Amino acid sequence: MSMRRRDLLKALGALGCAALPGRTLPVRAASPAAAGVVGDYCVANAASGALFLPASAGWFGRLAPDGAPLTMRALTIAGAAGTWTQGFTVEHRGRRFVNPTLIIERGERVRIDLQNALLEPTIVHWHGLAVDTHNDGAAVPPVAPGERYSYTFDVRDRGSLYWYHPHPHGLTAGQIYRGMFGLIEVEDDDERALRAALDLVPGKSEVPLILQDRRGAEYTATDSDRLHGLFGNDILVNGTVCPYLDVASRIYRFRVLNASNARTYRLGLRSADGKALSFTLLGTDAGLLAAPRRCDEAFVASAERIDILVDLSDAAVGDTVLLETRAFDPMHMEMAGPVAAMDHAAMGHMASPAAEAETPPAVDHAAMGHGGSFPEGTLRTLLQLRVRERIAYRARIPERLSTIVPIDVGPATERPLRLGFAKGRWRINDRVFAMGETPIEVKRDTVETWLIRNYFNSMPHAMHLHGFHFQVLERETSPEQIAALKVDGHGRLATDLGWKDTVLVWPGESVKIAIDFTLPFAGEQTYMFHCHNLEHEDGGMMLGVKVA
Ligand code: C2O
Ligand code: CU
Ligand code: CU
Repeated sequence: MSMRRRDLLKALGALGCAALPGRTLPVRAASPAAAGVVGDYCVANAASGALFLPASAGWFGRLAPDGAPLTMRALTIAGAAGTWTQGFTVEHRGRRFVNPTLIIERGERVRIDLQNALLEPTIVHWHGLAVDTHNDGAAVPPVAPGERYSYTFDVRDRGSLYWYHPHPHGLTAGQIYRGMFGLIEVEDDDERALRAALDLVPGKSEVPLILQDRRGAEYTATDSDRLHGLFGNDILVNGTVCPYLDVASRIYRFRVLNASNARTYRLGLRSADGKALSFTLLGTDAGLLAAPRRCDEAFVASAERIDILVDLSDAAVGDTVLLETRAFDPMHMEMAGPVAAMDHAAMGHMASPAAEAETPPAVDHAAMGHGGSFPEGTLRTLLQLRVRERIAYRARIPERLSTIVPIDVGPATERPLRLGFAKGRWRINDRVFAMGETPIEVKRDTVETWLIRNYFNSMPHAMHLHGFHFQVLERETSPEQIAALKVDGHGRLATDLGWKDTVLVWPGESVKIAIDFTLPFAGEQTYMFHCHNLEHEDGGMMLGVKVA
């Protein structure tokens, strides 16, 4: 590597995430914005409209059941907020919702009756909530058309943004694609303290951003999609392509969910005249970080969430700040050259005959553009923030957000998990999913570390565990574009510093996580560990986990 290249990487590293130098985080909008320079894609997209904001009814409407039982009907429905064709309807106190955003207090009991009015089986999974097997919804038979299933569980999880979506094996990708998902906001004291400190009002200055790429209304997965995951040609933000949000000169909180089947985003901010701007990372999948971090960008894979602040308090009326997904190497089976040469030296001990024997077909970029989709890792503007009003706003970001107690891994046993491809399918430890089988058996109330290793000649896999949150301990042999963003000597990214339920493992990378399998439920429980690239999941890149 030349010196120049090294300096460049160092500079890139500095562009990653940093602990806060002080108390304030000015993200200065470059001024004055050249009107109209908002990115070719958005300008070209006449369809772009205002960002959809969840209200107190309707699509993604905010619904606090306060312990009241809810009836959720899964059905085919014309998409009012986008091109979705399936969803969940709920009626509550005279209000009608589609895919309600459930607002739940930590400790609250949730009672939901699911009615399947679809023509195919379905079942709901509460992604990120630590519930027992019956309520987790994955290791149980799905609900046949016309049947019902009832959930009762206590929400023990930290305040954060979680989500719900179907989990009928083999049908999950299509149902999520068609619009069957919703958000869950779990509230707790840390959440309330943050909202109070920054005067955040949900639906106004605190806004969810649901990212989903689409390729038409119907779900049609080709062989190439089943291999790589389905990539669309439009990216919807809350159901709209390249929407705008009119804002005032203050701090905004965005709670981002990547609800895409397969696409990873490299999120960053930019002024209309092209300057990169930083944001504050507040939290990850399962709650707030201990302390905020200033970040220039963050990768967000399928099912991952990030919680960020954008400080526009110095912005002038007329400024525009853009949220974009930046260019990166998607690394779909095309690792070659010096890094691939390290493969056997660094990871020879993990090589298994089955996975060595077969290499997934190399990516054909022309083929990946099928149906007009654009490849993963392409720069695209996602959202325009248009500053329309100057207001007096003086709040400061708190220095402490929550308490994160590291899992004690002293007594932990380590479990190796290899992600690979063989006999035409993505596999975990050379296996594919079979209902009723639990190749991963864990002793309850113990701590384990999982060493998840991805082959060099692979693609990124967003690995998700049901039932338990985990902590990322270490990343090793990360590709350059990831290593450049590390924030500590363990190779971790800023987004690895909070509680997680999904972690992206890049080709050639080893990610070590810690899981405390303390189980609050009597009896043996079964959960899932799988790739959240939905085509990989439906294709069997999933294993049952028995905790007994
Ligand atoms: Cu988002 Cu197995 O789940
Ligand atoms: Cu899950
Ligand atoms: Cu995968």
